[in-house]
Amino acid sequence: MSEYILEIENLTKDFPGVRALDKVYLRVKKGEIHSLCGENGAGKSTLMSVISGVYPKGSYEGKVFFKGRETSYHSVKDSEKEGLAIIHQELALSPYLSIYENIFLGHMKTRLGIIRWDHYIKESQKYLDRVGLKENPDTIVSKLGVGKQQLVEIARALSKQVELLILDEPTSSLNDDESAKLLDLILEFKRQGITSVMISHKLNEVLQVADTVTILRDGKSISTWDVKRDNLTEELIIKDMVGRDLTHRFPERTSVPGDTVLEVKNWTVYHPEYHSIKVVDNVSFYLRKGEILAFCGPMGAGRTELMMSIYGGSYGSKSEGEVYINGKKAVLNSTKSAINAGLGYISEDRKNLGLILIQDVKTNISSSSLDKISVFGIVNGQKEIEEAEKYRDELRIKTPSIHQLTRNLSGGNQQKVVVSRTLMANPDIFIVDEPTRGIDVGAKSEIYGILNDLVKQGKSVIMVSSELPEALGMADRIYVMNEGKIKGVLSHEEATQEKIMSMALVG
Ligand SMILES: Nc1ncnc2c1ncn2[C@@H]1O[C@H](COP(=O)(O)OP(=O)(O)OP(=O)(O)O)[C@@H](O)[C@H]1O
Ligand SMILES: [Mg+2]
Repeated sequence: MSEYILEIENLTKDFPGVRALDKVYLRVKKGEIHSLCGENGAGKSTLMSVISGVYPKGSYEGKVFFKGRETSYHSVKDSEKEGLAIIHQELALSPYLSIYENIFLGHMKTRLGIIRWDHYIKESQKYLDRVGLKENPDTIVSKLGVGKQQLVEIARALSKQVELLILDEPTSSLNDDESAKLLDLILEFKRQGITSVMISHKLNEVLQVADTVTILRDGKSISTWDVKRDNLTEELIIKDMVGRDLTHRFPERTSVPGDTVLEVKNWTVYHPEYHSIKVVDNVSFYLRKGEILAFCGPMGAGRTELMMSIYGGSYGSKSEGEVYINGKKAVLNSTKSAINAGLGYISEDRKNLGLILIQDVKTNISSSSLDKISVFGIVNGQKEIEEAEKYRDELRIKTPSIHQLTRNLSGGNQQKVVVSRTLMANPDIFIVDEPTRGIDVGAKSEIYGILNDLVKQGKSVIMVSSELPEALGMADRIYVMNEGKIKGVLSHEEATQEKIMSMALVG
């Protein structure tokens, strides 16, 4: 048999108005970790969906060989039977079912027509051990964080005797610690003979685990590298991804912060269900005009909860404390009052809080600014189109048209729509929660450039970021949080990765 477990020849896939894949070639060796890199909209997820049968035979041109045989899958079920499993960019578990039900959903066997639940609970424990998830198999999945949910998905793949595991941006919603564990797990699978294909925008992680890297650009396979033999670097990957050199990942900015625009005093927030638990505990901080603040800390430190509770009480059963905007006490008891007070929020969770996926791009961009483009309550369609076109250009949103349904955009381009919407609403204070999650390196530096322009115009930005280089590169001051408390604050000049991490732990 050939040394390749997966071979793709001359693959072309069209959507109305878009050629998502254009004569792609890809060969994945048996037992290796193969990374797929490329800008947002390059075609990575589409390629994986073709391989795994999400897009059935007949909906694309070209050939896919798995284990030496040409495939003709009609659904994901067909590819699963042959030992292929895909973990999608957006997790696909049933949130209200238990861990073990999710692991065995759709492939439970019955004996005399009866499902042996106890058998499956025991069996699922075996897979939870293999992925290192210490949770009771009975636990309802929605109670788990994203990192753990991801492990459940992987446990599910293992339960189906996976030979080729496809992971679409597996670490994009994980913190450093969780990411490291996941990468270790993929390496462990490699020792067990499982082949992995990993899509990622985190190039340091790619270089850390991958044996081979293939780069896609505009739907075409550009190059394939042997990481060790070719001494592959991030710069080389970026060059093939964007087709040019990218010099400034964090554009320069001279910062001259003015008066305090936002001050939060003794802010405490209680858990939405367990009313006595403090998720945010007596937090105080301030933000000046023309300043970028970053909030760092491990997952679960309370950063998102802090920001969402300030943003009109969008999180928590109750919050205590005071918020001052431009020196005046503000009562922010609804999202509307927060918007009126000049706040804008870019959510980390585009699926649940961000976008209306069944609506088109322009409607999503304008949805927070209808008053700006309406006369007597009627939306001026022409104005709406002009504004949407402007952001499509500025952020290079990849879509055949602004009338495209948002769900048809690639993950990173959906995130750009979220960013556009808040930019158009034009608040004085931007709260951006993981603004560049799932966004490629080129578009990232464009978003950083936009944030810099905003503060130059006198706006202020609060950034919640799990990427320390981003916080270090962008922020004037960094607040470090853990366990709901602020553990310390560092200026741009004094901040280092080590200081942030040790502050989070020790305080
Ligand atoms: N169902 C669809 N209908 C129409 N166009 C689509 C559909 N799915 C994907 N596309 C388009 O195909 C192209 C490739 O998208 P794909 O999701 O594969 O990109 P990607 O490389 O995974 O990007 P990202 O890094 O943002 O996740 C994009 O231009 C996208 O808008
Ligand atoms: Mg994708």
